[in-house]
Amino acid sequence: MVLNPVISKLAGKLVVLASASPRRLEILRNVGLRFEVVPSWFKETLDKSLFKAPHEYAVETAKQKALEVARRMPIKHLKTPDIVIGADTIVTVDGMILEKPVDKHDAYRMLSSLSGKEHSVYTGVAIVLCHEKENEEVDYQLIEFYEETKVKFADLSEDMLWEYINSGEPMDKAGGYGIQALGGMLVEYVHGDFLNVVGFPLNHFCKQLSLIYNHCTPSSDKESDSAHLSLNGTHAPSVLVHGSSSVPRPSSPSASQTNQTYSSPSASPVHKVKRKGSKSSQSSGALVNSLSKHTDGNEAKLQDSDNTPLPLITNSGQLIDRSVTENEDSQPKKEDLERISELLDGFKASKALFTASKLCVFDLLHRMPGLDAAQVAQEIKASVKGTECLLEACVSLGLLKCKERTYENSDLATRLLRADACFSLHGYIQHCNETLWPLFSHLESAVQEGHSQRERAFSNRTKDMLQGAFHNSPEAKLRFMNAMHSVAKVAGKTIATAFDLSRFKTACDLGGCTGAMACEFTKAHPGMSVTVFDLPAVVELKEHFQPLHTDSRVSFVAGDFFQDELPKADLYILARILHDLPDEKLHILLSKIVEASKPGCGLLLSEIFLDEDRGGPSRGLLQALSMSEGKQRSATEYSRLLKSHGFITKQIRHTDNLLDAMLCIKA
Ligand SMILES: *[C@@H]1O[C@H](CO)[C@@H](O)[C@H](O)[C@H]1NC(C)=O
Ligand SMILES: *[C@@H]1O[C@H](CO)[C@@H](O)[C@H](O)[C@H]1NC(C)=O
Ligand SMILES: *[C@@H]1O[C@H](CO)[C@@H](O)[C@H](O)[C@H]1NC(C)=O
Repeated sequence: MVLNPVISKLAGKLVVLASASPRRLEILRNVGLRFEVVPSWFKETLDKSLFKAPHEYAVETAKQKALEVARRMPIKHLKTPDIVIGADTIVTVDGMILEKPVDKHDAYRMLSSLSGKEHSVYTGVAIVLCHEKENEEVDYQLIEFYEETKVKFADLSEDMLWEYINSGEPMDKAGGYGIQALGGMLVEYVHGDFLNVVGFPLNHFCKQLSLIYNHCTPSSDKESDSAHLSLNGTHAPSVLVHGSSSVPRPSSPSASQTNQTYSSPSASPVHKVKRKGSKSSQSSGALVNSLSKHTDGNEAKLQDSDNTPLPLITNSGQLIDRSVTENEDSQPKKEDLERISELLDGFKASKALFTASKLCVFDLLHRMPGLDAAQVAQEIKASVKGTECLLEACVSLGLLKCKERTYENSDLATRLLRADACFSLHGYIQHCNETLWPLFSHLESAVQEGHSQRERAFSNRTKDMLQGAFHNSPEAKLRFMNAMHSVAKVAGKTIATAFDLSRFKTACDLGGCTGAMACEFTKAHPGMSVTVFDLPAVVELKEHFQPLHTDSRVSFVAGDFFQDELPKADLYILARILHDLPDEKLHILLSKIVEASKPGCGLLLSEIFLDEDRGGPSRGLLQALSMSEGKQRSATEYSRLLKSHGFITKQIRHTDNLLDAMLCIKA
């Protein structure tokens, strides 16, 4: 049969799957069928003793599920589906019906009953075609069928049985196994449709569709073709189904026999069934006794949610009925999951970046592009397996490119991640790992206590991170300077060129660290000279950042801006200083600037400015979580602060760079 023509016949139609089984969903989705999922509320309580054979029970249950949805949708969802598909799968072995195991011992019992034997899996399927009439009533036409597949299990050793049981897989599966996963290893052969065992007889379903759509239009003048279809046992082209008209076909009462031996309440749901045709002295029409059914967890739970309206789910997993949000069986929205996954995995991505950066992967691949994982591993003295994982992760993060199992930097890595790139963030990345990461590991305490977790994170370093850094080894000082240097290099030009500064001849960069920012100012403003004012411990290490300081218009003065006199200047630059200061220090510093400035002098402030309405993603708000003694502010809040010290804001620049900027003039 030709598959696609059948599926494409359904293209414009509202097709509904009355089952939440993820396995059925996947089978139908994989062949390109577009459908919505509306799990049935039908309670699977049909009296099994009324059916002559297990498959009749499966078909009837499938039918009731589909009809329930077909009837509910016009009322609850205010739309009438064109086709509703219901299905029900059961497992039988030696006349027994196996339900889901209640515990491991039960699973053991079931699986050992399957061991070395052939069993049958039946799926009953009902296709309900809905025809809306003029008077808004709906006719339902039913097509039902079933498929049997025989499955033979290998002889299962005790060890295999327990290993499989301990994998947890049997617990939510009728018959205690899932053929599509680990359970597949237990299976010696499958006679019949494999997908039927998974939960949906796709081939048979497509044949039925093709009968419906290629041979038999569901209208009354095609009566003869209807014979192809099992129309609820009649030859009528369409069957009107009303609430009471679709009861299961009972078999003769004398044939109903229950094996009471098995109905004790504590017994597991393994029921003895007399099979059709079995040599029974009691009844020629051997019967299904307490026929149990196979269902998956989703459907079983849905039966209980009786009156809770269920959301309509499209096959892309989106909720349509937004009035309903609480249903554990619905599919979460794709965008939601993507967003959450991004957040969940963010720290892994950060750490992958830190590690690749620390191990100088980007520098190596800059010097020697095209190395494979083993070569990289050898160069960075790391394991091959670990290196391969790291490289692959970096490829997925867009940091590296992979060609035929060899690696090279992405453009992004070339520009920003190499240690010696002009705009290298290498130093700041190390700072993120060494300082911010430990702080954020204590975020919970920070939130509870409302202050920075430096003491916890760095146990015995001093309170002030800056001083803390400088009380440590020269390497630690250099690392910190390197971090500040990175940011100044990357953001410097943007800030230096944000405003017309031609009126200022002298500038002083307070806390200007390595002078990287100062150099950007002299570059951008030929008439300007800049003094970098920073702690002696910083200034004495400035030589490490040569050749920056060949610029004769950049000079350094060592001092403490809370205590010492500030160098005279027309323009004071405060980049990444204020957000970290507690109020009293902030006022000391600003007062000293005011004291040193004449009217008309400038103050250039550079920070991350928070959004005024605090909407959207914000690096500033995340930075605030480190809970320094300072505070993150919006441009308006900074303006207000500076105005209280007599500086009037002239211009504000939100940049696409790491820092924003604001120019204020002393009144
Ligand atoms: C019920 O099943 C058990 C176990 O197979 C069997 O021993 C017993 O004879 C059966 N009883 C009836 C009434 O069929
Ligand atoms: C991250 O910081 C920790 C603690 O300082 C350090 O031991 C580790 O080597 C660093 N890792 C990276 C990838 O930078
Ligand atoms: C911090 O210093 C105190 C006192 O010197 C010492 O008892 C404590 O063990 C140190 N903590 C850590 C984590 O090193």
